[in-house]
Amino acid sequence: MATLWQGRFSTDPSQSLQALNDSLHFDQRMFPQDIAGSRAHVRMLCEVGLLADSERDEILLALDQVLAELSDGSFEFAESDEDIHTAVERRVCELAESGAKLHTGRSRNDQVATDLRLWTKGAVDGVVALVQGLQRTLLESAESVGDAHLPGYTHLQQAQPVLLAHHLLAHGWALARDVDRLVAARARLDVSPLGAGALAGSSLPLDPHMCADDLGFAGVFDNSLDAVSDRDFVAEVLFALALLGVHLSRIGEELVLWASSEFGFVALDEAFSTGSSMMPQKKNPDIAELARGKAGRLIGHLTGLLATLKGLPLTYNKDLQEDKEPLFDAVDTVQLTVSALNGMISTLEFNTDRMAEAAASPYAAATDLAEWLVSRGMPFRQAHAVVGDLVRRSIDGEGGFVELVAASDALGPDAARLAAPGVSATRRNTHGGGSPAAVAEQIRRFRALLGLDRL
Ligand code: ARG
Repeated sequence: MATLWQGRFSTDPSQSLQALNDSLHFDQRMFPQDIAGSRAHVRMLCEVGLLADSERDEILLALDQVLAELSDGSFEFAESDEDIHTAVERRVCELAESGAKLHTGRSRNDQVATDLRLWTKGAVDGVVALVQGLQRTLLESAESVGDAHLPGYTHLQQAQPVLLAHHLLAHGWALARDVDRLVAARARLDVSPLGAGALAGSSLPLDPHMCADDLGFAGVFDNSLDAVSDRDFVAEVLFALALLGVHLSRIGEELVLWASSEFGFVALDEAFSTGSSMMPQKKNPDIAELARGKAGRLIGHLTGLLATLKGLPLTYNKDLQEDKEPLFDAVDTVQLTVSALNGMISTLEFNTDRMAEAAASPYAAATDLAEWLVSRGMPFRQAHAVVGDLVRRSIDGEGGFVELVAASDALGPDAARLAAPGVSATRRNTHGGGSPAAVAEQIRRFRALLGLDRL
């Protein structure tokens, strides 16, 4: 079998070596990036006088054909095609007489780092676009539910009623930080390693800047050893995706709760829920559960890669081939999850009557009643005790909470009106707070963030 190192070796590689070593089955998805990298490299080689114009043109023509074959599925892989880089180069050599010059001054070490950075830039753009779509869905839902309110929770115990719009946008802001992190990671990874060679640069007059410009990278490596061994960008993107996964999981967990008969806050669209093979009455929130479940896998990809990297001496080690599967799977997983969750949220129905009913307990206004006393001069600790005493007396059966509030010397009938269902949710006017006016302002800022309006 023809290997890239056949000059040095006299025997063929063993089957088990090949089975372990080959990465073609997962790295072939980088073929567009591999060909882009080769085109840039060939153009640079010609510029610096290492290739004649005719040789450059012949190789570029062969690369066009290889791209076409890989795109339409007619490319025939050979047993010796260890990875996508080997496969492309092998085919170029079949098609072009000067193909043997393609790998001049280049190693698969700088080549694979270049391909993966190019691939990751595109993948991040794709994920960001999907996340922004989910943010728009949350915004549209927030805008469509008006002043509907539901219990806000701490410790999963009813705390203070909040507007549904406020709750939905809370998830939108978490996603905004995910977008920021992805965009920042993308900016940091936008550096070309091409021209670093195997590890040490080259004695040939290569021009790494020319390749970087040609490929649209914002910068070029500073240290060839670092260029071929650095996978920080994979770790960073995996972290950004894992945290995004954690946010999707938290949204998923709430949807699971909200879709239960106990909460009954949402009704799922049939196209975005599943039935049971045995229990005819069931409508299950599988998408939300998978959003919750996939987070574990995403966290695993991050920790797995960090463990792979931690003991590696400079520079390239074959361990680094383990960077791609977690990254590809994390991107695929996030894309599937965000798309399905977006569909689920954009089609579900909010049962706002049920939410209002759940938030109707007069105790939900306890904090607002204490604040009412504070605004009339009472120290907060004392106010807390006054209201707490009424809560306890009501629970002990002395009377309804609202009646006790109305009869209280410190509070009285004016304050009791605060305990009417829905009223307390309208009073928290502070910046970022939950009153309708504060939420309207928040919606304005969120719309501006998504580029839908100017602030
Ligand atoms: N398939 C390899 C990878 O993904 C490409 C680089 C191989 N380099 C080497 N020195 N064997 O990392």
